[in-house]
Amino acid sequence: MTITSPHLGSPSVWTDARLLYALEEVVENELNRHLKVAKDWMPHEYVPWGDGRNFPGFFEDGVAWDKEQSKVTEIGRTALVVNLLTEDNLPSYHHEIAALFGRDGAWGTWVHRWTAEEARHGIVMRDYLLASRAVDPDKLEQFRMAHMNEGFESDNRHSMLHTVAYVAFQELATRISHRNAGHQSGDPVCDRMLARIATDENLHMVFYRNLLKAAFEIAPDLTMQAVRDVVVDFRMPGHSIPGFERAAVQMAVGEVYNLRIHHDDVLEPVIRFLKVMEIGELGPDGRRAQEELGLFMGGLNAEAAKFDEKLAARKARMAARGRA
Ligand SMILES: [Fe+2]
Ligand SMILES: [Fe+2]
Repeated sequence: MTITSPHLGSPSVWTDARLLYALEEVVENELNRHLKVAKDWMPHEYVPWGDGRNFPGFFEDGVAWDKEQSKVTEIGRTALVVNLLTEDNLPSYHHEIAALFGRDGAWGTWVHRWTAEEARHGIVMRDYLLASRAVDPDKLEQFRMAHMNEGFESDNRHSMLHTVAYVAFQELATRISHRNAGHQSGDPVCDRMLARIATDENLHMVFYRNLLKAAFEIAPDLTMQAVRDVVVDFRMPGHSIPGFERAAVQMAVGEVYNLRIHHDDVLEPVIRFLKVMEIGELGPDGRRAQEELGLFMGGLNAEAAKFDEKLAARKARMAARGRA
């Protein structure tokens, strides 16, 4: 099989292995850029250890958890649990990307570096939640066990290109979810911690977005199809968390993550930055994918508008009842 460039109008014969090889230099450049801009930080500095108390079990002075012990809002608790459990499944994410990207060369260095950075997120969030007593620690541990026992299998494990496209959007989705959870938490200490995590997630997004840009240059038709597929079928990595559906509804109403946010703050910025809808010189498959992507985004925007109306009506009802 020979490599033919879609730029020349010939049929694409890219395989994952060939794309991995073709993108290796870009990965190396992006990795070096990332290492220059990523600031080291200490998770323990973000945790209010002074607020901590022993839990019952082995300590005589142990105090049982009670909801009243924390000032974190109800929506804050829900979002923190969903976001932490999402981070907790890191071993599965590592497995999935290591299997696709490999553990050698620049790709492997990135996989390990990314994993090390992501591990900080779970560490700092769990330490914060336990020290501040924001959530029931027994339930949190039971949920973690249940969630990790399920494992995580990527929807895009069949394709390296689909995986790069997915994580470009997913890292931004995670950034936005952490950031908004902080804003809604009612605790400035929590907000500061989640803002720090969100900064990491943003750099992860930039890495993958730049990689996706290079993929568009190398194999525009295939990349367009991958972007169409992951945008249309997008779901958050934490979708298998116990009670996720209910939590997702609460997070939507609580304006941590909803259709409007997904469209405006996650999908649109990446699509616009990469000028996805303006890419020309596509073959029939690429053009069709571009059109379908455009149609999907239009439909999503219309759905988001309906959601906006419902949310505004709900807020008005709450205000009328004097609860807002
Ligand atoms: Fe993370
Ligand atoms: Fe991340």
